[in-house]
Formats: sequence, structure tokens, C-alpha cells
Amino acid sequence: MPATVPQTEAQRADALASAPASVVVEGVSKSFRLPHQQYQTLKERALHPLKSSTYETLPALRDVSFDVRSGEFFGIVGRNGSGKSTLLKCLAGIYDVDPGGGRIGLGGRLSPFIELGVGFNPDLTARDNVTINAIMLGLTRREAHRRFDRIVAFAELEDFVDLKLKNYSSGMAVRLAFSVAIQVDADIILVDEVLAVGDVSFQEKCFEQFRRLKEEGRTVLFVTHDMALVERFCDRAMLLHHGEMLEIGDPATVAERYFALNFDAETGAAPAEAGGQPARVVRAWWEDEAGRRVHRLDHGQACVASVELEFGEHAEDPTVVLRLMNDVGALVFGTSTAGTPTGRFAPGESGTVRVSFDFRLPPGRYALGVTVSDDGDEEAAWERREGLAPITVQGSPRGLPAMPHELEVVHGEPVRTGGRTQ
Ligand SMILES: Nc1ncnc2c1ncn2[C@@H]1O[C@H](COP(=O)(O)OP(=O)(O)O)[C@@H](O)[C@H]1O
Ligand SMILES: [Mg+2]
Repeated sequence: MPATVPQTEAQRADALASAPASVVVEGVSKSFRLPHQQYQTLKERALHPLKSSTYETLPALRDVSFDVRSGEFFGIVGRNGSGKSTLLKCLAGIYDVDPGGGRIGLGGRLSPFIELGVGFNPDLTARDNVTINAIMLGLTRREAHRRFDRIVAFAELEDFVDLKLKNYSSGMAVRLAFSVAIQVDADIILVDEVLAVGDVSFQEKCFEQFRRLKEEGRTVLFVTHDMALVERFCDRAMLLHHGEMLEIGDPATVAERYFALNFDAETGAAPAEAGGQPARVVRAWWEDEAGRRVHRLDHGQACVASVELEFGEHAEDPTVVLRLMNDVGALVFGTSTAGTPTGRFAPGESGTVRVSFDFRLPPGRYALGVTVSDDGDEEAAWERREGLAPITVQGSPRGLPAMPHELEVVHGEPVRTGGRTQ
């Protein structure tokens, strides 16, 4: 087993800098061949005699190079379809890289937890699957039997060990697979999006395991969409986009770039609808007190939430409602221009709504929602959007939001107020 890695941040960084590489990826490309649609009619076949056997090449990874140090906790992020799972599958040897498409070097035994189904046989019981997997991952039969209880207990599936895996819910199967992956003594552990499936208490257990794996000096490649986890656990991270590596480095920088990409995609110009929408959101963003665009704020920091709108028809004092939602989609703050004259907008004209405030809500992830309507009638809204301009608020809250209030202590019986019967 690798030497224990020291745990203060500075010591860890020093130790990792001089640690040998555990995963080396050099110029790796991987493409998939997708057969073209078969040409059905005789005429088409006559016109395109060769087409029925052609295929399209979809590049899933393009010339990706990086290395991961022994003992490093390394994050891999990117939008759906950016090539994260393909990369892990290449590392695990499930896919071959393209001929002449680079080289992969691994300095230790690998334990992949890629996705549901890989490595599990649905027609076998959980007991058999765990044993087979553990043996495949390098344990002896005796070790596998010894670990079995621990694996099953961690997954909280003691009562279901003799059930066939096809009768498991996806959440149960994920727990089992993750449990196998982290309970065997692999040097390099690949983790793909596990935590999205489990419930909160199982996630907490996984986090404990992440801390243990870090302390034990295991090398972990961790695919996730959750930038808070990247910043919490990863020593470094990289960002994939359309199969290319866009960024590699410290987690905060990579998270920032990831948000910027998503931000452009989610809030970039919406496609103009046929016939012209009366109003639409063009983009939404956050600024700090100096007017710089940010994807991250400190708790209590002064900021401006901005939404740019474009009108497709004449609008007279349109009403704009701006909502702030937390990471579970609950409304935590809202404001509206109702009652304030917003002026007249001609077709093609744009305008920006800006809400300035000090961000006094607790640290976490937030996003904006916007409704634009003629007269505040939400039912007949011209435009309604959610999930705009996601932002991370960091820091420890110094007290909860300052809500104007009165505090008193009253002795004796509770005083009745209101609700008096006649
Ligand atoms: N087995 C496959 N056959 C064909 N295309 C695939 C296969 N696996 C993945 N792809 C394609 O490769 C691209 C990258 O996919 P994937 O690695 O799963 O992305 P991610 O895990 O980042 O969401 C996508 O366009 C996906 O459709
Ligand atoms: Mg994936």
C-alpha cells in the first residue's frame, strides 16, 4: 500500500509534487463509429450504392494528456457527453484507445467503479456478484469472503444479499458497486458519478470513505458534476469539453471555468422563436462590487444580479419578477418591478434588470429565475426561465439572514393576541 500522505494542505501539496505519477495519459484519442442510417428504397440504394455500409466517426476524446500523482485526489468535470466516462473506461481497459491514439500507463492496481452494469451480472445474486468482483479486482477467494460482510454492511444491503441483482433498484446497485470498489485494496480508484444516486446519509458515508482514501494515500479519479465536492476533496481537477481537455489545475480555477461554460450554455441567446416571442431572456449574470462578472461570491459580499431581456413586440411598462432559488429549487428571495414604471420598449429593443444587494443568505449554490409579463399576470407570462446564472456562495455564515424582528420574554401565561371569538 502507498505511504500515508500527510494531511495538512501544504504538506499534502509538497508530498504530491514529489510523488511518482500513478496514471499517465499521453495524447489519448477515442472515437466511436456510428453506422449511417440504412437506405431503404431501391432508388436510394441505386443512387447511393456504397452508403449503406458507411459510418460516422464520433470523436469522444481528442488528444487528451495529463498525469495523476500517486496519492492524488483528482477531479474530472465536464458537461454531459464531454467524454468523462469514456476516459475512465479507457483507463479501465473497457475500451481500447484509437489505433495510434495515444498511450495510457498505470502504476498500480485499478479498481473501477464506472457505472451501473459494468462488472455486474444481473442474473446472479448480490453475494455472487460481490465475490466475483472482489476476485476480479485482485482479492483472493478467501479475502473476498472475509471482506464480503464489510462490503455488504457498508452498502446497507445485509437483508438483500441473496436477491438477484436484476431485482435491485438502481440506488441499491450503485451502493453495492461503490462499496466493492472502495473496500478492495486497489491503488487507483475510479469513481464515476456515484453520489448522484444515493440518499444524503449514504453520501455522507461516501465522503467519510473519500477522507479515508485520501489519508491512506490512494489515487482517486473522481468524476462529478458537483463543483462543491471538487473543491472539498480534490487536489487538482481537469475540465473536459467535447472530448478535449480545456483546463487542468487547482479545483477553484477548474470549477470557475466549468461554471463559465455552463453559464454560456444556459443563459446564452435563446433561439428566437418563430413569430417572435414578446420578450425573452438574452443572458443573466452576476457582478461583484467592482462590476466584474463572477460565478462565485463570499457570504455577505455586495453583488448585482443582472438579467438582459430582449423584446419582440411593443411593451409598455412590462413587469419583471426576479427570483433567487437555492440548490434544491426552493425560493429564498424574490423581487418585482410591479408598480414601478419600467418604460416603453420597441420590438428588437433590449433592457437589463439589475438587482443590487449584499448576499446574506447561507453559503451554497443558487440560481436565478425570471418571469417577464405584460402586467404582472404570471399565467400569461411572456417569458419564464429558471436555473439562470448559477452561483456558488462560499464562507461560513456569520449568523443567519438579518431579518428585522422583535424579541421579548413574557412571564406567566402566553398572551393571546388576535383570533378572538365574538
Ligand atoms: N459506446 C458508445 N458508442 C457510441 N457513442 C458513445 C459510446 N459511449 C459514449 N459515446 C458518445 O461519446 C461521447 C462522450 O460520452 P461519455 O464519455 O459518456 O460522456 P460523459 O460521461 O462526459 O457524459 C458522447 O457523445 C456519447 O454519446
Ligand atoms: Mg458519464
